Amino acid sequence: MNLADNVSFHPTPKQFSGIKVSLFLLCVLPFLRLALFALTDRLGANPIEFITRNSGDWTLYFLCITLAVTPLRKWLQWPWLIKLRRMFGLFVFFYASLHFTTFIWFDHFFDLTEMFKDVIKRPFITVGFINFVLLTALAATSTNRMVRLIGGKRWQWLHRLIYLIAPLAIVHFWWMKAGKHDFAQPILLGLIVAALLLVRVVSRFKPKRPQKRFIKISPI
Ligand code: HEM
Repeated sequence: MNLADNVSFHPTPKQFSGIKVSLFLLCVLPFLRLALFALTDRLGANPIEFITRNSGDWTLYFLCITLAVTPLRKWLQWPWLIKLRRMFGLFVFFYASLHFTTFIWFDHFFDLTEMFKDVIKRPFITVGFINFVLLTALAATSTNRMVRLIGGKRWQWLHRLIYLIAPLAIVHFWWMKAGKHDFAQPILLGLIVAALLLVRVVSRFKPKRPQKRFIKISPI
């Protein structure tokens, strides 16, 4: 079934701006909640652990949201959804930066030598670090100017790194939880990421339906 036959929604530019601003505010909420908890001394007995875990969780959730945009756009035939993908992608980077900053600041007090020793010593942190480097490359090339500079085709290839980043994020999460034999959350998020990647493989082999409108390449 194609849901588009039942759910046809094409916002006017004004409605689209409203949707984008509302979603932006929703995306900032987890950060505001953390800030409020920090200011009101409600981060629990181990505030560093609280912030690291919370920001790590939200990095992963936003990764899933970003990966969900394309399948949703195709399923609903809402071409305008693609224009929200870059914003979600940048929120992945925002929460990953918060996660990484907590680690380098409160775990290592900006001592880079100590930090790299830790990155090498603990494999789950090695994977997280590699992922952060890859995410930084995507964030740095997310502007329209960079699409023009790199060229559309090459840019698309580069941004396919997201298909590596997502499974690596699950490996990072899994490895961290393995020490505590607590696999429920990594399994759930692993299944969500696997499903989001699988729909792409399936849609590649499906005969193409004509799209309602041509979409120009847009950064994640
Ligand atoms: C795409 C990038 C990343 C994602 C998606 C991610 C995600 C996560 C998640 C989901 C957790 C577990 C949170 C929980 O227990 O609920 C976590 C924990 C952790 N991550 Fe990451 N992470 C990323 C990058 C990094 C980087 C760059 C570092 C440091 C170099 C890092 C260091 C850590 C540490 C130390 C913990 C464990 C905190 C603890 O034991 O309390 N992560 N991460």
